[in-house]
Amino acid sequence: MKLIKELNLAGKKVLVRVDFNVPMDEHQNITDDTRIREVLPTLRYILDNKGKLIIMSHMGRPKGKRVDELSLAPVAKRLARLLEQEVDMAQDCIGEEVERRVDSMGENEILLLENLRFHKGEEENDPEFAKKLAALGDVYINDAFAVSHRAHASVEGIVNYFHEAAAGFLLLKELKYFKDAMENPRRPLVAIVGGAKVSGKFGALENLLPRVNKLIIGGAMANTFLKGLGFDLGNSKVEDDLVGAADELRQRAIREGIKFYLPVDAVVAPEPDPKAETKIVPIQEIPENWMALDIGPATSRLFDEVLYNAKTIIWNGPMGMFEIDSFSRGTISMVYSVADSYALSIVGGGDTDVAIHSTGQTDRISYISTGGGAFLQLLEGKPLPGIVALGGSDIGG
Ligand code: 3PG
Repeated sequence: MKLIKELNLAGKKVLVRVDFNVPMDEHQNITDDTRIREVLPTLRYILDNKGKLIIMSHMGRPKGKRVDELSLAPVAKRLARLLEQEVDMAQDCIGEEVERRVDSMGENEILLLENLRFHKGEEENDPEFAKKLAALGDVYINDAFAVSHRAHASVEGIVNYFHEAAAGFLLLKELKYFKDAMENPRRPLVAIVGGAKVSGKFGALENLLPRVNKLIIGGAMANTFLKGLGFDLGNSKVEDDLVGAADELRQRAIREGIKFYLPVDAVVAPEPDPKAETKIVPIQEIPENWMALDIGPATSRLFDEVLYNAKTIIWNGPMGMFEIDSFSRGTISMVYSVADSYALSIVGGGDTDVAIHSTGQTDRISYISTGGGAFLQLLEGKPLPGIVALGGSDIGG
């Protein structure tokens, strides 16, 4: 895989794919600009090296048609402020007007193309669409780690039309942290896996098992494991069809000498509602018709102790339904346990990321991935199409 530093960019039209899919409120104000800040080193490098900077991104899921609320215009403004430089915004990402603007660009100028997903061809990886995008640049840079798990036109198909294509600094940083943690970690390596469904994380658990020393399971997905141990979980969410497979995975972990930790208590309520009555109970005592919606304080203490001597931590997925305040404490407590540890800590996944930002502990985590689905796919050990297209054969390229 070629790196941006290996390319000569001077005077060239540099077409860069980034992931500016940032959260916005109902007035199109950006509520978290981390994904924009994280690609600034790549964008500055291109400008410093006298490239003409043409930026492409998607925003949301407009399903192939123009949706004004999903325009990248607010991103153009934020980017201009961060770079302290004018950012020209195109009305579309392909077409004559865009071509004209690109042709009249000078060195050091910036053009942000409109949301790629306003065209069906983007998600369909349509070669014609990819070709039209590619015609806008002399060289191609992928610095969009968070969407590199999608075989979309601007991520995958486009690479076929370039002689020179390379990875940007963010893409490299993401892969390097992940590779260091997975392939040559300081031990003990502890993985924390949470979230709603074990079905969505099974591949990740299978891939993590041979690598980790300890595995902590939280979130509603823990229920499926606990059911396998014979606990009566009341009305808690359980994926019944996976109870057997989850239990087999737990037993395999134990046979292989991996310490395997499940919640010992829970915050329960009759329903997942902000106004619902709540109680803290041992896992053995979940009342009939109540459901576990967060890990309890005894579990938080246990997990904190488990992390105490960790040298490397990988975390994906919340410990409970943390979007509701009454069920957020387990996840928040986990943020502090990870932040307080002396380990190299790598965290990924949209919800986990939000939890860390909400506590203001971002600087105390070694690395927070910008990827949600992409990070999970790395955890599963599956190649990311955007990286394969650049010639990176495995997770590290
Ligand atoms: C993300 O937010 O995870 C990326 O931008 C990818 O978005 P997608 O899930 O809509 O493809």
